Amino acid sequence: MAKITVSKLKKMKQEGEKIAALTAYDASFSGLFEEQGVHVLLVGDSMGMVLQGGYDTLAVTNQDIAYHTRCVRAGAKDTFVIADLPFMTYSNPADACNNAAELMRAGANMVKLEGGEWLYPAIELLTQQGIPVCGHLGLTPQSVHVFGGFKIQGRTNEAAEKMINDAKALEAAGAQLLVLECIPSELAKAITDAISIPTIGIGAGKETDGQILVMHDLVGISAGYIPKFSKNFLLETGNMPAAVKKYIDDVQSGQFPGPEHEFN
Ligand code: KIV
Ligand code: NA
Repeated sequence: MAKITVSKLKKMKQEGEKIAALTAYDASFSGLFEEQGVHVLLVGDSMGMVLQGGYDTLAVTNQDIAYHTRCVRAGAKDTFVIADLPFMTYSNPADACNNAAELMRAGANMVKLEGGEWLYPAIELLTQQGIPVCGHLGLTPQSVHVFGGFKIQGRTNEAAEKMINDAKALEAAGAQLLVLECIPSELAKAITDAISIPTIGIGAGKETDGQILVMHDLVGISAGYIPKFSKNFLLETGNMPAAVKKYIDDVQSGQFPGPEHEFN
């Protein structure tokens, strides 16, 4: 498969070809994912939950992400890798640059941070310094204690309008990709239509330009709890490579996510 770049991702959006993304944390799985043709891998701070066993993502450090980014890159030389900037590593533009630089040196192609318009200066500076940025709106887990739990976001008209404006601000600041997590499908569609950069959804319906799943959810081993928006692809395929292949195929054909996986 041809190497994925930000230009290729944008072209996929324009041509309506769906992007299939997965989280990855080590070389064995990143190699398998690359072999099956996953377009984008995310070294997510979800590792605080699925690797470290925490209630939330807040304990994850920039060093943790850098370490796992090195592991993922070692197994997948050609795949587009995004690395999460963890909680409190981008409170100001200078911190964002220093911490993002560590992740880029570890092998990332892009960094992801959570939040809306307030991130404008950080995103602008990162992009000026040569670091591509992915935004993240909706249920942004680093704010779980402000939300009062892992709850669907953007349900009121006011919140939906604010999120659309945030998405536009992120794009204007220079962001080249946007993750939308746990929002109503109609809002995800409105955001996807309102901006020209690709959107990658999780619990955001089928109208986003791509999908992402936490790899543990894809194989049904997320500590006894499978989120509504997720699907165990191992059940119907019986082995790991086939499960990943089925996930990619179902995302690209529009079969996943189905109506049972979305919020309205
Ligand atoms: O950390 C993570 O895995 C994420 C995805 C769920 C988008 O941010
Ligand atoms: Na994350």
